[in-house]
Amino acid sequence: MKVWEIGPQTGIDSLRTATRTPPETSPGHAIIKVHASALNHRDLMLTAKRYGGSKPENRVPLSDGAGEVIAIGEGVTNVKIGDRVVANMFANWIDGPWVPGLFSADYGNTRDGWAAERISAPAASLSKVPGHLSWEEAATLASAGVTAWNTLNVLGRMKAGDTVLVLGTGGVSIFGLQLAKAGGAKVIVTSSSDEKLAKAKALGADILINYKKTPDWEKEVLKATGGYGADIILETVGTASLTKSLQAAAFCARVGLIGGLDVSQPPQIFPLVAKNVILGGITVGSREMLDDMLAAIDAEKIKPVVDKVFAFDDLPKAYTYLQSASHFGKIVIRHN
Ligand SMILES: NC(=O)c1ccc[n+]([C@@H]2O[C@H](COP(=O)([O-])OP(=O)(O)OC[C@H]3O[C@@H](n4cnc5c(N)ncnc54)[C@H](OP(=O)(O)O)[C@@H]3O)[C@@H](O)[C@H]2O)c1
Repeated sequence: MKVWEIGPQTGIDSLRTATRTPPETSPGHAIIKVHASALNHRDLMLTAKRYGGSKPENRVPLSDGAGEVIAIGEGVTNVKIGDRVVANMFANWIDGPWVPGLFSADYGNTRDGWAAERISAPAASLSKVPGHLSWEEAATLASAGVTAWNTLNVLGRMKAGDTVLVLGTGGVSIFGLQLAKAGGAKVIVTSSSDEKLAKAKALGADILINYKKTPDWEKEVLKATGGYGADIILETVGTASLTKSLQAAAFCARVGLIGGLDVSQPPQIFPLVAKNVILGGITVGSREMLDDMLAAIDAEKIKPVVDKVFAFDDLPKAYTYLQSASHFGKIVIRHN
């Protein structure tokens, strides 16, 4: 079968194809025929040794995908042949809190990912896909979706009427917008592009701020909320924008530190104390969180936003497109 490998990790050009023997069944594992996979920002980092250093050159990338179970090993009871499934990014984080060791089974990072025709996956990491989703839509769920879900509902304890702030219009933020609207929140979206803000409005965003035209966007958040601020913030940019996020936070807000897009400055964290803000680190989430999110997506018939679909053979073009940051939502690879 054909797979992609991350190669020597000197950039997107390092990505290379290889031919491997298809995986065989083993106890506790399922074999999945992959129909689609999806990119996340960290996939770019992994091609440049910017995510925990160097990986084996033959590592198969991509933490996200969706496919059909075509064989199961001994002892597998939670999925059966024919099921449409996705896998939690951290294969061993089933439920409960984040504990040491979970990074050792991270799809597309410390274990092979979804850029393959078939994968073998620990069955415990798998969840069934809601029937209304296409393969392309299902492929986007596991990393960006669960990260947004965790920040909103686990760290954030979101309730209807809360004000949620998402930064930019990438994968995590657009899931944040959709899941927050489905939960009855008011959502503020920032973006560098008015065109992207118009798309966010079409998805239900209530307040739109162009952070290029309005560099003091934190003041705009306060102004637009009558001085109140945001109850939950998905801080996908990083420490460089955390100062502004904390200034935009409401009293007793919950802020999830998610991103590493800009870590060029340390944050000024005084508002944490002054406003009793809770700042939490986010590492995607558990399979239980994935299941909870899938139940909400099924109940509300939410459709993930797929910006562009690339052919399997064009994987490097998809990475280049991600790097251009022209996308809104998710970038997907079709495998057949
Ligand atoms: N901790 C975790 O568990 C976790 C999980 C998933 C992702 N992440 C991290 O979260 C970040 C976002 O991931 P993603 O996959 O959603 O990324 P993405 O799809 O590549 O989206 C990035 C978007 O963020 C906006 N942006 C970029 N630089 C910005 C800046 N300096 N200020 C404000 N907005 C900026 C841009 O939106 P506009 O074009 O609209 O301006 C850009 O398109 C990445 O750092 C990623 O590694 C962390």
